[in-house]
Amino acid sequence: MKILRTRKEFSAWRSQKKFNHKSIGFIPTMGALHAGHLSLVSHSRKQNDLTVVSIFVNPTQFGPKEDLKKYPRTEVADLDLLRKSKVDAVFLPRSVKEIYLLKDETKIQPRSSLTNILEGRFRPGHFEGVVTVVFKLFSIVRPARAYFGEKDYQQLQVIKAMVEDLFLPIQIIPVKTYREKSGLAMSSRNRYLDSKSFKSAADLYKVMKASNTLSEARKKLSLLGFKLQYLENWNDDLSASRAGNKGRWLVAAFYKNIRLIDNQKK
Ligand code: PAF
Repeated sequence: MKILRTRKEFSAWRSQKKFNHKSIGFIPTMGALHAGHLSLVSHSRKQNDLTVVSIFVNPTQFGPKEDLKKYPRTEVADLDLLRKSKVDAVFLPRSVKEIYLLKDETKIQPRSSLTNILEGRFRPGHFEGVVTVVFKLFSIVRPARAYFGEKDYQQLQVIKAMVEDLFLPIQIIPVKTYREKSGLAMSSRNRYLDSKSFKSAADLYKVMKASNTLSEARKKLSLLGFKLQYLENWNDDLSASRAGNKGRWLVAAFYKNIRLIDNQKK
């Protein structure tokens, strides 16, 4: 497995003659890898000649009061997992400057109809940071396909829309949310939960699954100590919210001060 620390190194690796006409499957990550990321890797390995993972904690997608400084950084363990999963190359920029060159540089403005809702209401600027870095990473890696987990459901829709709107020749492949046995959606931020909260945080999934109405779920979750930011019902492409209870339920809640998101098709 090659570890490439600069754009130049990546480009030299990418342009070797033996890789001519080979398809690249790409998994952008912020590290702190878990089995959910590895399931994206295994999808990519089945569909492409080469699989590339990037590890970059992208500062522009964190708000001023968010967890950029304490975001888990587990580089050695991450590289070990990727080696074992037979990834071909890891793009691990050696500094933020490798990705962001100027203060005043071009940014991608995501579709506002997709970003004024749900996460976007609580994390202003977040999706602009996400699509800008994903666009930059796509330009460096030039993949045929890129893989995103459905846990970050809105992110997936925003990235799909960017690819569509900017005519990028990349296929976006959604991959089902990977869950703990308890049902808790895997997330790098789950590391912030102590072992007791890690178990009880699965109630978010369980209550969403067992409830027939949004109001029933809201009531139960708040009794269990979840502080809801939103629990809403939308159609699959997030183009309209839905009355009634059939649709895709999306939720964000704090549990013991840790922010969790999840979604389920009902
Ligand atoms: O989902 C993530 O880990 C990040 O938002 C991404 C897509 C790697 C962009 O920084």
